[in-house]
Amino acid sequence: MKILLIEDEDRGARQALELFERAAPSSSVQIATSRDDALDAMDGEGFDLIVCDLRIPPSNSSADVDERHGLAVHAAARDSCPGTPIVFLTAFATKRNTRTQLSSGGTKQIYGLKDYPMVQLVEKGDMDEFEDLVSTLAQALKTVESSSELLAGDASDEMFLRAVKTYAHQINMSNAVIHTIAGGLSGAPLGRVELSSPQGGKANIFMKVVAFQDAVNERTNFEEFVPNRLQTGFFAPALSPITAGLRGQAALLSSLADGCVSLFHLLTQNPAVAAEAVKALKEATRPWIHASEPALMSLADLRRRRITDEKLAEALTFSGRALVCNESRTVEMKTSVCHGDLHGENILVTAEGRPILIDFGDLGLNVAPLDPVTLELSIIFHKAGPARSTDWFANAKWESWADLDIFVEGSPFELFIRECRAWSMEQDCANAVFASAYAHAMRQFKYPDVDKGITQAIAQSAYAAMSTSAPL
Ligand SMILES: Nc1ncnc2c1ncn2[C@@H]1O[C@H](COP(=O)(O)OP(=O)(O)OP(=O)(O)O)[C@@H](O)[C@H]1O
Ligand SMILES: [Mg+2]
Repeated sequence: MKILLIEDEDRGARQALELFERAAPSSSVQIATSRDDALDAMDGEGFDLIVCDLRIPPSNSSADVDERHGLAVHAAARDSCPGTPIVFLTAFATKRNTRTQLSSGGTKQIYGLKDYPMVQLVEKGDMDEFEDLVSTLAQALKTVESSSELLAGDASDEMFLRAVKTYAHQINMSNAVIHTIAGGLSGAPLGRVELSSPQGGKANIFMKVVAFQDAVNERTNFEEFVPNRLQTGFFAPALSPITAGLRGQAALLSSLADGCVSLFHLLTQNPAVAAEAVKALKEATRPWIHASEPALMSLADLRRRRITDEKLAEALTFSGRALVCNESRTVEMKTSVCHGDLHGENILVTAEGRPILIDFGDLGLNVAPLDPVTLELSIIFHKAGPARSTDWFANAKWESWADLDIFVEGSPFELFIRECRAWSMEQDCANAVFASAYAHAMRQFKYPDVDKGITQAIAQSAYAAMSTSAPL
């Protein structure tokens, strides 16, 4: 176990170390001797258990030993170490309101222990209680880690492996095999996990370990907009995430979309079927559209939602700066629920051609054309975009992006591009579509692997088309 001990007195630290040696042998213990020391330690890495003396000084050079500083650690730990159990060592005289404040940590399932209180108070004199507590936790972690055989392949992330074992333990499986997936751009450890046991048969899931708050956001977005609006079969259902015991991270689990290929892959194999899948996705996501009053937005507002002024300034070419000067122009934009990151790797397609949405970290209300515009341009802008390796790409007329007939000439993905563009135009009026494309193209200045000339030409084309479109 990896423990953070926050204790300013040598004697107290020595006692705690002896206790850890008995209750959680071979743990690694980091010692912080003040509030600031503790905040630094928590900022840097994750722990399995935090033990904090409530009466500590604010800094290593201060003699102002006070419970206030322990309370500050409590507040910080909730933010920077979510899902990590904390034990506060309190004095007999600790006031009731301080105790109440500290015991508001709620309970979670951790290492198979159900309803485990995440913040606990132990009186400094009661070392037996403290030892019991540490030993229960250490034993539970050991049980989880030894309850299944793991074939990890090339998966090596410690918390990913622990999350797999935690899930195996949760569903009573004794074997787990991890098949890593050439992952997404986020770099999160992820994979397909095959679980089995002689009694329980087999189970398959997809698992991804991400920062705690990212997991909470993705899960919340999913709950708010996906299973209650879309038909089953068009999204990968999420399972309960693992939110404790992963050193400040959390594991997202979902049903495995097995036997599928990504839309990008399908485009290289059968572009016509891929275009049909886009059409099916447009139909499937209709429940995300709702009648809303269009809002007037400037191009600058729209673009800032996709890339900040600072980021853009770093990357913009000299000629690109002229574009930004035009950003005061306003457009009426409709709002819709959007996936928010609809590139071709976030759409899996079944052998029957049914699209399945995954990866809901950016899902939410947004400008209505965002998804189809992102999808269309992803074959060009995304690292795995299949257009990048075609002859068409080498000679494409980027400056005519808005003029569909000219732009798709000679493209192996003509059907796909036309389908996406038709979808965009159904989402909102032409001006709104071009404005969205402008903002999305400008966002690409963030990414060093995207050709700045292409980005600029598409942004320019979208802007010019907007200027000449019929007024609303
Ligand atoms: N439920 C699932 N079933 C099968 N494969 C999946 C599932 N979820 C994700 N995958 C695969 O894992 C890959 C990465 O997953 P995901 O898109 O959630 O990660 P990410 O790192 O957030 O990606 P991004 O680059 O979009 O940010 C997907 O592109 C897909 O190939
Ligand atoms: Mg993804």
